[in-house]
Amino acid sequence: MAPCILSFLLLVVSFSQAEEIVCRRLGDPEKPQLLKDGDVIVGGIFAFHSSWKERKDTYMHKPLPLQCTSLNFRGFQYAQAMLFAIEEINNSTDLLPGISLGYKIYDDCGSIARGVTVTLTLANGNEIVSALSEAPCTRPVQVQAIVGETSSSPCMAISTVIGPFHIPLISHFATCACLSDKTKYPSFLRTIPSDYYQSRALAQLVKHFGWTWVGSIRTNDDYGNNGMATFTETAKQLGICQEYSVSFFRTDPPDKIQKIIDIIKASTSKVIVAFLNHMDMDVLIHELSKHNLTGYQWVGSEGWISDSQIAAMDRHHIMDGAIGLAIPKVHVSGMREFILDVKPLSSSSNELFIEFWETLFSCKFKQSKSSTGNQRECTGDEDLSEVQNSFTDMSLMPIFYNVYKGVYAVAHALHNILSCNKTCNNTVQLDPSMILQHIRKIHFKTKEGDEVYFNEYGDPAAKYEIINWQPTENGIVDFVTVGLYDASLPADKQLTLQNKSLIWAQNSQQVPVSVCSEKCLPGTRKVLQKGKPICCYDCLRCAEGEISNITDSITCLRCDSEFWSNERRDACVKKEAEFLSYEEIMGALLTAASLFGTCLTAFVAFIFFRHRQTPIVRANNSELSFLLLFSLTLCFLCSLTFIGRPSEWSCMLRHTAFGITFVLCISCVLGKTIVVLMAFRATLPGSNLMKWFGPAQQKLSVLGFTFIQVIICILWLSISPPFPFKNFKEFKDKIILECHLGSPVGFWAVLGYIGLLAILCFILAFLARKLPDNFNEAKFITFSMLIFCAVWITFIPAYVSSPGKFSVAVEIFAILASSFGLLICIFIPKCYIILLKPEKNTKKNMMGKGAPKPS
Ligand SMILES: *[C@@H]1O[C@H](CO)[C@@H](O)[C@H](O)[C@H]1NC(C)=O
Ligand SMILES: *[C@@H]1O[C@H](CO)[C@@H](O)[C@H](O)[C@H]1NC(C)=O
Ligand SMILES: *[C@@H]1O[C@H](CO)[C@@H](O)[C@H](O)[C@H]1NC(C)=O
Ligand SMILES: *[C@@H]1O[C@H](CO)[C@@H](O)[C@H](O)[C@H]1NC(C)=O
Ligand SMILES: *[C@@H]1O[C@H](CO)[C@@H](O)[C@H](O)[C@H]1NC(C)=O
Ligand SMILES: *[C@@H]1O[C@H](CO)[C@@H](O)[C@H](O)[C@H]1NC(C)=O
Ligand SMILES: *[C@@H]1O[C@H](CO)[C@@H](O)[C@H](O)[C@H]1NC(C)=O
Repeated sequence: MAPCILSFLLLVVSFSQAEEIVCRRLGDPEKPQLLKDGDVIVGGIFAFHSSWKERKDTYMHKPLPLQCTSLNFRGFQYAQAMLFAIEEINNSTDLLPGISLGYKIYDDCGSIARGVTVTLTLANGNEIVSALSEAPCTRPVQVQAIVGETSSSPCMAISTVIGPFHIPLISHFATCACLSDKTKYPSFLRTIPSDYYQSRALAQLVKHFGWTWVGSIRTNDDYGNNGMATFTETAKQLGICQEYSVSFFRTDPPDKIQKIIDIIKASTSKVIVAFLNHMDMDVLIHELSKHNLTGYQWVGSEGWISDSQIAAMDRHHIMDGAIGLAIPKVHVSGMREFILDVKPLSSSSNELFIEFWETLFSCKFKQSKSSTGNQRECTGDEDLSEVQNSFTDMSLMPIFYNVYKGVYAVAHALHNILSCNKTCNNTVQLDPSMILQHIRKIHFKTKEGDEVYFNEYGDPAAKYEIINWQPTENGIVDFVTVGLYDASLPADKQLTLQNKSLIWAQNSQQVPVSVCSEKCLPGTRKVLQKGKPICCYDCLRCAEGEISNITDSITCLRCDSEFWSNERRDACVKKEAEFLSYEEIMGALLTAASLFGTCLTAFVAFIFFRHRQTPIVRANNSELSFLLLFSLTLCFLCSLTFIGRPSEWSCMLRHTAFGITFVLCISCVLGKTIVVLMAFRATLPGSNLMKWFGPAQQKLSVLGFTFIQVIICILWLSISPPFPFKNFKEFKDKIILECHLGSPVGFWAVLGYIGLLAILCFILAFLARKLPDNFNEAKFITFSMLIFCAVWITFIPAYVSSPGKFSVAVEIFAILASSFGLLICIFIPKCYIILLKPEKNTKKNMMGKGAPKPS
């Protein structure tokens, strides 16, 4: 044990004797791709390559450095934009006078791992540093702020690493909403709006054109996954359904992309929302072109939609008519010329510059190892104006402008910290966290007039242009701005589309339709299909009595009780009111019959009056006959009260008038019958019955019988009178206007009383029918009562079973039939004799053969 402790002590002593600790960065040193010294150094991280070789690590030895592939001119453009801003600030006498900005720019190939590596290099430097033992390895950071990275995923990794040191990272193109989380990424800022807004804007755009059935493709990284998650959430709220949602990454094996192509081919939706960055779109377009997959309407995120390089790649015009969100276009004077001047880039590492030059001009330098012979040789004097590729393409100017704004934000923060006014205070010790604080509070205007500031999440104000890919005659796609989206406005005004003609997929002028189910027209309602998203449904016709008056209604509304659905089930119409009216044929016929009866009665009365002195009239108790004729007139007339719209008065009048006139009528007949019976008995010897039933008694009895009915009616009317009533039950689509009886007892009492009198009359007449009288009225009265009773007995079942106005018609018919029965049976035979057989109208004839002769 002892020797071991001793050796440990010796080690410590040897260190303390040296009084110096050597701080060495782990890993291989990294050299910046572009570098210039200055008073303040700003870091930059861009992807000069867009991909790398996938290697399977065996973990048996130290992993080899990442081998980057696919030179990416965009990265160079961003770097140039940064240099432009730095040079402009350096030239400026207002901003940071006397202070020169320097830069260190690294290539991370878009790789997360390399991104973290170069970030640590930017913070630490590569040098081997000796430090005093009291403060081992503490040195101020190398850079005060970092501009970059382009993609979200590397930004997240980089922010995680430098967050604890509060070194500001200002991205120009990392849009993932996740980066707004300031507890995770405290030092992250950006000059491009968060996808939080973009995803919502895309969903609103899709909704605006009525596409409720869409497919979606996303980059399988934080940009695509988070952006699509927000899109999906918003789309769901707006009632948009996704048929499929697939993801891929550009380094994925080909069969994975093939699967996506198969899914698109098998889909029924016509709209594809693509949340991709341009590197993945490159790969996808290539694959789509191979399969000639045209006819889909593409909706794009800003990652690719404004990239004319993508449009140029699309030789089969697969993407024509695409619509999407783009960062508003700007023109920064001098930037284009600066970017195209590649001289500053020649200061970069020789190897990268050669690769850049060779790719730019598609040539090979002689000394280059990779020269294959069939490419022309580079001279080094090639002219950029003769080539056209993504380096000369300035469609991403808005993004370059974002880089520019980022650099300016740093410069303005420095300007404030150093309290520059003509000169700056050089003695202030710079510290990244101080710069971070100042950048967060910055608010300035660029020379293009844009206000630059960051909200509490480090995001700028969200404004997008809506652009449409419109193919022109020479095959080049024109990015036409067709609208604006401004998230700072109230929700209903955020999306505004200008009145410009849009071009859709396959050069169509018509907005494509992409729905799972067609709209449900008014009159139908949606019924979801089992196991399918809510956008897939069937349209069911509303039931009778129910309507829907909007398209895509979920429910059918029931109409009010006085209304009914129309044939198309899209509106409630007032139910037809049914009652027996004068206008319709049945009502008119019954009215005519009633008036005819009245006239006939009047005619009979006239004849009787003219011949009142003749025996036949005298013999038949002329007073009662005239009273009977009068009551018959009333009977005919009272049927009219049943026709027409029921009102309070007509309802009360109907049954009571009918009841009273009929009782009057029957009691007259009854009186006559009794008279006949009496007259016969009176002819028998020793009888003076006629004295007991003289004309006065006859009238009194008629009055008495009628009075009873009047009392019944008064009781009925005062206790529970009939009233007009709307019957909804009988028919679904009609209202029956009828008179409610009030008290059925009253009604049946009135009818019953009439029936009682009629039966009494019938019995008496029946007894008298055989009496020998040449002109025996009893026979006719029997017959008329038979008709009367038959009519009323058949009326009752018909009344109970006939619905609505028919029951009224039946009742009128019964009234008319029985009145005609009485009129015809009792009076017509007499009229016949009076008018046509006057020879029989003699006293002698009245006392026929076999009849006992009156004394
Ligand atoms: C800034 O300007 C100074 C001279 O004014 C120059 O020496 C320096 O190289 C410039 N720096 C940059 C980054 O252009
Ligand atoms: C900076 O000033 C130099 C010299 O005046 C000029 O050549 C250069 O174009 C300026 N750069 C910018 C970006 O304005
Ligand atoms: C692609 O499809 C279009 C129409 O569907 C057709 O006109 C064109 O010839 C096809 N191209 C190829 C390469 O198959
Ligand atoms: C800058 O200095 C001038 C005079 O040197 C002074 O009038 C002005 O108020 C100062 N501005 C600021 C912002 O300090
Ligand atoms: C410069 O800054 C230092 C430290 O903040 C301060 O002590 C000094 O007074 C400042 N000088 C001027 C001229 O403002
Ligand atoms: C929009 O354009 C159409 C024709 O392109 C025109 O008829 C219409 O009046 C325009 N509307 C507005 C508001 O400008
Ligand atoms: C649809 O019907 C309801 C209730 O009947 C009514 O309030 C509404 O105004 C109607 N809407 C249309 C568009 O007709």
